[in-house]
Amino acid sequence: MTTHNLLLLPGDGIGVETIAEVERLIGFFNSKSNVVRFSVDRDLVGGAAYDAHGVAITDEAMAKAEKADAVIFGAVGGPKWANVPYQHRPEAGLLRLRKDLDLFANLRPAICYPALADASSLKRELVEGLDIMIVRELTGGVYFGEPKEIVTLENGERRAVDTQVYTTHEVERITKVAFDLARKRKNLVHSAEKHNVMRTGVLWKQVTTDVHKSYAPDVTLEHILADNCAMQLIRNPKQFDVIVTDNLFGDVLSDEAAMMTGSLGMLPSASLGAPDPKTGRRKALYEPVHGSAPDIAGKGLANPIATIASFAMALRYSFDLGAEADLVDKAIARVLEKGLRTGDIMQPGMTKVGTSEMGKAIEDELKSLAA
Ligand code: IPM
Ligand code: MG
Repeated sequence: MTTHNLLLLPGDGIGVETIAEVERLIGFFNSKSNVVRFSVDRDLVGGAAYDAHGVAITDEAMAKAEKADAVIFGAVGGPKWANVPYQHRPEAGLLRLRKDLDLFANLRPAICYPALADASSLKRELVEGLDIMIVRELTGGVYFGEPKEIVTLENGERRAVDTQVYTTHEVERITKVAFDLARKRKNLVHSAEKHNVMRTGVLWKQVTTDVHKSYAPDVTLEHILADNCAMQLIRNPKQFDVIVTDNLFGDVLSDEAAMMTGSLGMLPSASLGAPDPKTGRRKALYEPVHGSAPDIAGKGLANPIATIASFAMALRYSFDLGAEADLVDKAIARVLEKGLRTGDIMQPGMTKVGTSEMGKAIEDELKSLAA
């Protein structure tokens, strides 16, 4: 029997509640299967880690994350930590995980379940059947470029600098991930940048063009300016298959795409490193795209679907358990078809449920699908 080691990092706010629903599913798979077992460790990240240890993530937790087969992450941040020193702010824990584990490829699938097409802020015909994969570069760009500082000038004014920087290698590897994914989908990649304003955009466009020629001439590549991409996502989202873009544009475009699925509470993500040359294993972290939602935290109101779907991505991308991942996705679709809704996706005539009721309903569907 294979044992997969999971590190759970619930973090802050609703992360704690949604990760609890993933633990329910882990329990289900452990009780059901005699081929695969998940062992679970947990630790603190974000504000919770700051309160306990004075840092957003400890070296010990980082060491556990390095060793784990996959990290399942909840959310970080909240008003309670608004005034902690900048380097210890809750988000620093997540950014350190991404950077130190070199999780450069962030996959954010925006899928609109038919039952939720009316919950989207766009018209049903625009989003029904939507299936986009946003591939966001996650360890470079303006998030990590140096200098990154606020300095006081001689005249007393302050000046802030963030640096947008990309190397050929960074663009190459993320572009290859996008092409590999497109081959298993509709074979279309849009590369979004701002080559009309930014030197990084010029390089990004050149490198994606070169990689296309040498690595994936069988896939269609379209270049699109990032602002136009934002507009086209609202105008006609189904024209897209895979969108590859940098760290900051990817952050913005993925929140936009999330709303098409009905709610930010629906969007999962996978952050992957390069495959280990010997074992083929990739370091990986799975997290919902929504944040810690302090306004509803601790009330049992959060939508656990994005976190549960992130766990399904772990089954698919880290453990090669595609059939089990499909089962989880199907269980989610069925629960939605039956009319169960958390507050964020509530519509007239549907049944409003809380976080754990939603998690339990998905587990019950899984049980009946697996029976
Ligand atoms: C995301 C989040 C993070 C980001 C924050 C929490 C640092 O918005 O994962 O999209 O900006 O990358
Ligand atoms: Mg974001």
